[in-house]
Amino acid sequence: MQLALTILAFGGFASAQGAQGAGKTTRYWDCCKPSCAWPGKSTASTPVLTCDRNDNPLNDRGSTRSGCDSGGSAFMCSNQSPWAVNETVAYGWAAVNIAGSNEASWCCSCYELTFTSGPVSGKKMIVQATNTGGDLGNNHFDIAMPGGGVGIFNACTQQYGAPPNGWGERYGGVGSKSACESFPDKLKAGCNWRFDWFMGADNPDVRFRQVACPAAITAKSQCVRQRDVIDQTPTGPSTVPTWTP
Ligand SMILES: *[C@@H]1O[C@H](CO)[C@@H](O)[C@H](O)[C@H]1NC(C)=O
Repeated sequence: MQLALTILAFGGFASAQGAQGAGKTTRYWDCCKPSCAWPGKSTASTPVLTCDRNDNPLNDRGSTRSGCDSGGSAFMCSNQSPWAVNETVAYGWAAVNIAGSNEASWCCSCYELTFTSGPVSGKKMIVQATNTGGDLGNNHFDIAMPGGGVGIFNACTQQYGAPPNGWGERYGGVGSKSACESFPDKLKAGCNWRFDWFMGADNPDVRFRQVACPAAITAKSQCVRQRDVIDQTPTGPSTVPTWTP
């Protein structure tokens, strides 16, 4: 009896630690500095890495204005494009909005998405939250993929000479893999990913759960939350870390 109660308590506790549920996705690539690249957004050691107009890393600790603001010169780095780890798992980044949560909680946190509709059903993608969209609904992952549409803001014209509304449709982006051929070299692989691994899926639904970030992701974004550990094998509340600035 004591054991059963203990397990129940842990179950409840574990689910309170990381966000999970059903969600929706969209796609974008606006070339803008992502919002989690500003200082002080979360407990992360450094803000998300951004790049200059020529895609060189800005080691500015988040101080440079976004290329989406007038006179700004910080852009999304091309290496924050999604990639296939293998046939069933991909890694990448997203603008996120989690119901009942806030930017301080999700900036640079990682979420495992399991696609539940469309051709990618059953495949998994781990994304790190690098951005927040004021236009996003709850439990929404706006997955960053070159050629996915610039959306509201557009720095791709300034950074890469893209057409005034970005490549393809302003919302949704390009419609076929052949359009990726004319992309800037650094964005081609990410554009192709959408039609290869992602199978041209059109805003598939997901189930999601918060997970610890893979090092392969944080090596590129350089944003690591303090104690980025979701207690996968709980041994009791005392092992769940809390971090105080
Ligand atoms: C794909 O990669 C993930 C993450 O490294 C791994 O857990 C999984 O076993 C791999 N799947 C296959 C089919 O290789």
